[in-house]
Amino acid sequence: DRQKHIRNFSIVAHIDHGKSTIADRILELTHTVAERDMTNQLLDTMPLERERGITIKLNAVELHYHAKDGETYIFHLIDTPGHVDFSYEVSRSLAACEGAVLVVDAAQGVQAQTLANVYLALDNDLEIVPVINKIDLPSAQPDEVKKEIEDMIGIDASNAVLTSGKTGVGIPELLERIVHDIPAPTGDVEAPLKALIFDSKYDNYRGAVLSVRLFDGTVKVGDQIQLMSTGKTYEVTEVGVMSPDAQPRPMLMAGDVGYLAASIKTVQDTRVGDTVTSATHPVAKPLEGYRQIQPMVYSGMYPVENAKYGELREALEKLQLNDAALEFTPETSQALGFGFRCGFLGLLHMDVVQERLEREYDLDLIMTAPSVDYHVITTDGKTHVVDNPADMPDPTTIKEIQEPYVKAEIMVLSDFIGAVMELCQRKRGDYVTMDYLDKYRVSIVYEMPLSEIIYDFFDELKSSTKGYASLDYDLVGYRASDLVKMDILINGEPVDALSFIVHKDFAYQQGRDITAQLKTTIPRQQFEIPIQAAIGNKIIARTTVKAYRKNVLAKCYGGDITRKRKLLEKQKAGKKRMKAVGNVEIPQEAFMAVLRTN
Ligand code: GTP
Repeated sequence: DRQKHIRNFSIVAHIDHGKSTIADRILELTHTVAERDMTNQLLDTMPLERERGITIKLNAVELHYHAKDGETYIFHLIDTPGHVDFSYEVSRSLAACEGAVLVVDAAQGVQAQTLANVYLALDNDLEIVPVINKIDLPSAQPDEVKKEIEDMIGIDASNAVLTSGKTGVGIPELLERIVHDIPAPTGDVEAPLKALIFDSKYDNYRGAVLSVRLFDGTVKVGDQIQLMSTGKTYEVTEVGVMSPDAQPRPMLMAGDVGYLAASIKTVQDTRVGDTVTSATHPVAKPLEGYRQIQPMVYSGMYPVENAKYGELREALEKLQLNDAALEFTPETSQALGFGFRCGFLGLLHMDVVQERLEREYDLDLIMTAPSVDYHVITTDGKTHVVDNPADMPDPTTIKEIQEPYVKAEIMVLSDFIGAVMELCQRKRGDYVTMDYLDKYRVSIVYEMPLSEIIYDFFDELKSSTKGYASLDYDLVGYRASDLVKMDILINGEPVDALSFIVHKDFAYQQGRDITAQLKTTIPRQQFEIPIQAAIGNKIIARTTVKAYRKNVLAKCYGGDITRKRKLLEKQKAGKKRMKAVGNVEIPQEAFMAVLRTN
């Protein structure tokens, strides 16, 4: 029976604890990739992932393992991202698995995302195989980490596998443990097709390519399938597995993880979390989908060239297929023209989306400063949801502004308690609790405004704790705050896309900081450009960008032609993320100036 030989599992961990490295070692040991094709972080297929050394997208591969019992097992390994911004990808891949390999760094121990991810795995009833990685490090403390796993997570870690992704130690044992500890799938091959879409990707030739986990039944080329959320039917044109490149197969069966294509051209019809069934023998009830993910941060996205608006819409639709957490609706800005309001899970997610759109779809984009969504209650008793500061109602009609609050859990060594509390207090946090996890480590809980967390909180936390702190947060609700909208005027004209919302206590300082920032980011032009910050009609800060005419080539005395060319190219490249507002050119950095003044 084929299913008895299948193991579907994910690797979950806190960021940088070594998931991708362990996945690489597993691919090597199972000879899934020829040695000459082996590169580090093989499953991180996006150039962006390799450059940054992080996993952004989940990836599923099929591998074949010859176990000690003499049998060959089919492993479906789903690699997942570790950063807090991408935890929705983790929950999706877990729904396709029976087990999870939990990787914990032997020197760092259990961290915030270790807990968050392991809870997701336990919610999905997955069998957990604990692994303590990086045991080659001199600072490794495997016994302490075992105890932490038992105390903090409540699973037996006495037989945790000790590995080093770097040297390969322990990986053969891990493979055996996957065979023995993780249950085989138990779907009914004879039943009608029931498959979960856990990812999808747009391909110009094949249409939407769906990553699927078959729970029951089979699917092959020529079958008529139905997507249950829309009821639309399609004929299957290709099925296969990733190993690690796409390899077409005659059919997929219950228990399998693979892909299918069915000339699905309307991007909106493929929804991650949806169920695929047979059009001729549909199942009565779809699989439980995923919970809808709530964006945390919103930003306006505009093409540098207005004519590319249609292209941007198409690119967003295609990217959304591959990134279920991305949301967008059209918006217009007086300053920037036609664009989209986009919702993201955090700043890293926002950054990644902008880069993917620019690289994969060849667009030049301007993004406005990120904002959270506010609930504004006006004097007529109505509540307005405002995710764009430019849409703030007239201040004289506002009764109350409420902002989203999160419960933030920070884990840190006890030496840094003072530094963390000082930081949280400064970011308007309300202290909730503090618990000692063991002799050295504490968990500190604060409730704080989301807007304070999304900017540079994580970076500041890291730098004030020598990199030791980890963070996880969840939305807890909306609370009234003393907030005001700050307008920025450039050359006497308010630029709607530069408006932002700020706490009254920080407004004056912020106004001064941001005008100073803008002065350094807006390039000088042939005329003087006044920059002002205003609350309502009141100007609270002002600077001026002096006029002058700059000839960049004057620097290149000596006529070094290659240097001259480089300088020109640099200028040209620098021009891409620039938008003319009235007769002033505003660069991308200016829109993000608010991030740097916090
Ligand atoms: P994300 O994909 O971003 O979530 O990170 P990850 O958990 O996949 O971590 P990754 O495999 O990229 O490893 C993080 C860093 O730790 C890299 O610099 C690795 O070279 C290093 N590393 C991984 N495993 C080991 C190990 O066993 N020993 C040592 N010394 N370093 C390791």
